[in-house]
Amino acid sequence: MGETAELRVGDKTYELPIIEGTEGERAIDISNLRSESGLITLDPGYGNTGSCESQVAFIDGERGILRYRGYSIEELAEQSTFLEVAYLLMVGRLPTREEMDSFTTSIRYHTMLHEDFKHLFSALPKDAHPMAACSAAVASLAPFYPDSLDPRDPREVEISVHRLIAKMPTLASYAFKHSIGQPFMFPDNRLSYVGNFLHLMFATPCEDYEVDPVIEKAIDLLLILHADHEQNCSTSTVRLVGSSMANLFASVSAGINALWGPRHGGANQDVIEMLKAIESDGLSGREFVERAKSSDDTSRLTGFGHRVYKNFDPRAKIIKKACFDVLDKLGVNSRLLELAVELEEIALKDDYFVERKLYPNVDYYSGVIYNAIGTPANMFTAMFAIGRLPGWIAQWKELHEDPAFKIGRPRQIYTGPNETDYRPMSDR
Ligand code: ACO
Repeated sequence: MGETAELRVGDKTYELPIIEGTEGERAIDISNLRSESGLITLDPGYGNTGSCESQVAFIDGERGILRYRGYSIEELAEQSTFLEVAYLLMVGRLPTREEMDSFTTSIRYHTMLHEDFKHLFSALPKDAHPMAACSAAVASLAPFYPDSLDPRDPREVEISVHRLIAKMPTLASYAFKHSIGQPFMFPDNRLSYVGNFLHLMFATPCEDYEVDPVIEKAIDLLLILHADHEQNCSTSTVRLVGSSMANLFASVSAGINALWGPRHGGANQDVIEMLKAIESDGLSGREFVERAKSSDDTSRLTGFGHRVYKNFDPRAKIIKKACFDVLDKLGVNSRLLELAVELEEIALKDDYFVERKLYPNVDYYSGVIYNAIGTPANMFTAMFAIGRLPGWIAQWKELHEDPAFKIGRPRQIYTGPNETDYRPMSDR
């Protein structure tokens, strides 16, 4: 037996195996603790709980490191494309030229949605949030494609994966088109993945739409940076739902809902709304930061703080630089960017943020780029979802390939009333 930890409870000692990951992270394996001792462990928010072993992404929050399958996020951002990164995450290695061509062709081939999908979008109110539309549409792929839902059939999984990656930009753009009352566009398969998404979003049947290569590159970069982040809230949701043997579409639809929340992916929409509100209320950066610190106020400095990064978020560093580059190339002078920089400078010197190790996260500057290229704020989180899709899929596949596969089922410590006699309503 390898190294163990000892847990002493009363006069009994339990030996618990220690396992070590490839980057030297260590964990105490408590999976048999309850059967041996009757004890469970309690960890609200799972801040100290490893739920699986994974080979997909590595984060060192103290040193600001993020790697996908061993490759640094900085290098992938500099040299790769989103579809190549998607392949890397889902297959586990970088593709050869032939593999990449065949993958890209398959994704192109599946971009169209079944015509009946249009009814699904049309049934929603015009102001429906695109995340509601996306999660409903992704879940609805299952009844449209019942031929490929078996999570344990590799060929069916591959078909579902390609369909999902290909159709996600189409259905996200349909959510947007419906909200503004414009006709749905058909995908243009001559374009790149991102070029096609921009076409679906911004083209109309009446006028030609030219994809701007600066915008295309910027969105591709943002998708790469969002592509995976190990066991975050939405990914853990995808795994948990998948662990019930639910199909891929149902699992990812659940992940989309988890991502929607403002403490997670919904933060990118919140950041831009926060910046706009500060501007329209005429608040100074300092006044807002004081508000975000106050325990009497529910406002937080959205886009700051992270459960894992306690030094800096490497994605935020790359996005901040890209933000300046893109706005400069597009000739956009953004008051929101100036305000974001001002708030960041104040917060990074403020004891409250320093002591709590709160730094800008991935959502802090991304919205400024989306906003500058004319994307409405309520679409930001849907774009995050397009980016996170390969990560969700990679983790879902890994779950099913894991010999330790089990339905996810946490325990609890019950603190409610003890057994109580039922009183009929007439006696209450
Ligand atoms: N502004 C002000 N105070 C903050 C912020 C913030 N953005 N974030 C954390 N704090 C404070 C908390 O009030 C708490 O203070 P206290 O110890 O005095 O009570 C302390 O810092 C720790 O915060 P927790 O919420 O306990 O930290 P946790 O790790 O659970 O939460 C989270 C991380 C949810 C990201 C948090 O920092 C937050 O709410 N940030 C704003 C929302 C956001 O940007 N979310 C996107 C995260 S990235 C992503 O999911 C894609």
